[in-house]
Amino acid sequence: MTAQDIIKKTEDILVNTYNAQPVVMDHGKGVYSYDTDGKKYIDFAAGIAVASLGHAHPKMLKTITKQAKRLMTCQASYATKEKLEAAQILIDNSCFDLVYFSNSGTESVEAALKCARKWAYENKGHDCNEIIAFKNSFHGRTYGSASVTEKRNVQPFFAPYLNGVHFAEFNDASSVRELINENTAAIIVEPIQGEGGLTPANPYFLADLRNICDKHNICLIFDEIQTGMGRLGTFFAYESFETSDGVTEPDIACLAKGMGGGFPVGAMVAKKKFGEAITVGTHGTTYGGNPLACAVATTVMSEILSDGFLDHANKVSAYLIDGLQQIQRTSNKITEIRGQGLMIGVDTTFDIKELLSALQKNGLMATQAGKATLRLTPPLLIKMEEAQEALKIIDKTLKEMS
Ligand SMILES: Cc1ncc(COP(=O)(O)O)c(C=O)c1O
Repeated sequence: MTAQDIIKKTEDILVNTYNAQPVVMDHGKGVYSYDTDGKKYIDFAAGIAVASLGHAHPKMLKTITKQAKRLMTCQASYATKEKLEAAQILIDNSCFDLVYFSNSGTESVEAALKCARKWAYENKGHDCNEIIAFKNSFHGRTYGSASVTEKRNVQPFFAPYLNGVHFAEFNDASSVRELINENTAAIIVEPIQGEGGLTPANPYFLADLRNICDKHNICLIFDEIQTGMGRLGTFFAYESFETSDGVTEPDIACLAKGMGGGFPVGAMVAKKKFGEAITVGTHGTTYGGNPLACAVATTVMSEILSDGFLDHANKVSAYLIDGLQQIQRTSNKITEIRGQGLMIGVDTTFDIKELLSALQKNGLMATQAGKATLRLTPPLLIKMEEAQEALKIIDKTLKEMS
């Protein structure tokens, strides 16, 4: 079957959720992906910030093979050493006390919303169920997470959504204060809005949210699904947002994507006060916390936390940003560069769809963030020379398009 046949037949029998790419991906190795015609791409999409260790990482392969032979699944009510080990890593390397394992980002958000609302119901009153989210937010596609995603306002066909969700202006604490009332249970925020256009939160804005939540006894949720697990150069995203008073700790963080490096696994991590609200029979999942997913997550997280790993990611980040700034100076086609760690957004004067397609033709895969931003989220272990290769492709593509 040719690539075109595969694309056509896929379109015929799959629900139409994404615009099809013109090539069919076949396999990956390190920071490279290869299509079915053998063409090589440097993967600056990484499954949208998923393949933190690149493709076919030997340690991941070893863990998957070994664990699949030993025990892939067991009823969620059993403890396993794989589940304990993965949870311990999350707790030992964060401000959190309790872990709930899920299979995806949206499920981590659902768990966080349920946790915050149950805590508020039991501690602040039965009507305390309102949630403040932000304009341009993205938290997922199931009903709870879609309800706190601003896009709900342009997708009336899925209504009714959760009641009591209000959208404040991102990076504007006064707009949050205006929405606070005695029924506010939680505030949910992305440290860098990913899908919304790669917009970083101001550290002082996050600190303001913390103060508001402390004052009104409200649960502060950070959606770190795209930004966490080393993506911003720190293990948790909240560690990257420091003010003169230190970092802002949320009460709950939602994780997925990079945590499994491509294997579907997620987590909600919570401070004891809020995490304890979930009790036996009030929430759960068949697959969440299964031994295979937890063994892979342990391997990926241990690698990210290993000596020098994040230092290296931060060096490559600085190199990439510097290189992009040089291209900006010489080509004047780049209007803005923003982001942190290996989550970098580039605004250009070109149509984003045309730019992505031209980059793909030249051998670089990347994604779109927001309406017009080029999003670069390479594997965290990318080498300097590979980053240099990507910069050359970007430079060449911008010149060709000029
Ligand atoms: C910030 C954020 N939250 C939630 C999600 C949803 O995650 P998933 O697609 O795994 O359900 C995403 C996915 O892009 C995300 O970027």
